[in-house]
Amino acid sequence: MIMKTKQLKEEADFFNSIARRVNINKIKPSLGLNTKRREGSFIHKYLPNNLKNKRVLDLGCGYGASSVYFAKKGARVVAIDASPESIKLAKKLARQYKVRDRVKFITGDVEQLILEKDTYDIVFGKAILHHLTISKVVPIIHRCLVRKGGKAIFIEPLGFSPFFSLYDRLFRRIARTSGELRLKQNDLSIFQTTFTNTNWIAVDILPCLLYMVYFCNLIIKNDVKPYWHRKIYDAEDNTMIGQVHTLLDRLDNFLPCWVQKFGWKIIICSTK
Ligand SMILES: C[S@@+](CC[C@H](N)C(=O)[O-])C[C@H]1O[C@@H](n2cnc3c(N)ncnc32)[C@H](O)[C@@H]1O
Repeated sequence: MIMKTKQLKEEADFFNSIARRVNINKIKPSLGLNTKRREGSFIHKYLPNNLKNKRVLDLGCGYGASSVYFAKKGARVVAIDASPESIKLAKKLARQYKVRDRVKFITGDVEQLILEKDTYDIVFGKAILHHLTISKVVPIIHRCLVRKGGKAIFIEPLGFSPFFSLYDRLFRRIARTSGELRLKQNDLSIFQTTFTNTNWIAVDILPCLLYMVYFCNLIIKNDVKPYWHRKIYDAEDNTMIGQVHTLLDRLDNFLPCWVQKFGWKIIICSTK
């Protein structure tokens, strides 16, 4: 328990320090997925078209881009994060987009959440599960979803590739926090055994080449920092990096099945 409290404090301190540097005027409500790539089309197959009055739980909401996205679509959102500074920004973002009354923000630990049974239509999380004990939170998520068609949707870093294991071992010092771990087969199995139906897609397989080239360049310049990969991931569609990324993403479709799981990210959509 003491270990867990220490880890949570580390998470909160780290993400507080990031939040202090974020300019909230530059944040747009979004799920942070590129709709032109496979990730966007996959997730939109599982998200209901009409989110009006749907109940959404946004876990590890950070500065609220996804919470405000859901609220703008008419959903009623509960959003939780361990970092008080991130929650402060998230409230500001919700006010800016005039949906503050549709989002309840909670500063706290996802693992300690006490949630009503059969309540939420969607439990959403981006880059949160890999900070948590998955065997502990998946049953909590399953329990709070509505019985008929409740969906758990998560976007997480994936660790099936031996290349990523090597990267993690060699470059642990540039990880963001000490507790984070990419998702492995065992984590996916927990979803598969808990939910009636689980679909997933691994993305950014060939685009990893782009990541690698960029990463090597940063090493040469001695300029590798946490979140270095966002430069590639967030590159606008009209930039050269963005276009190459989209092209490589399309080529991922033609890879044999056994290679598909070696992507950088996984998107999981489970139905209760
Ligand atoms: C990588 S950030 C992702 C934030 C947001 N989902 C996004 O995509 O921008 C991970 C977030 O999880 C939060 N977090 C980590 N462990 C947590 C926990 N046990 N309970 C609640 N939030 C947690 C951090 O404070 C941080 O804001």
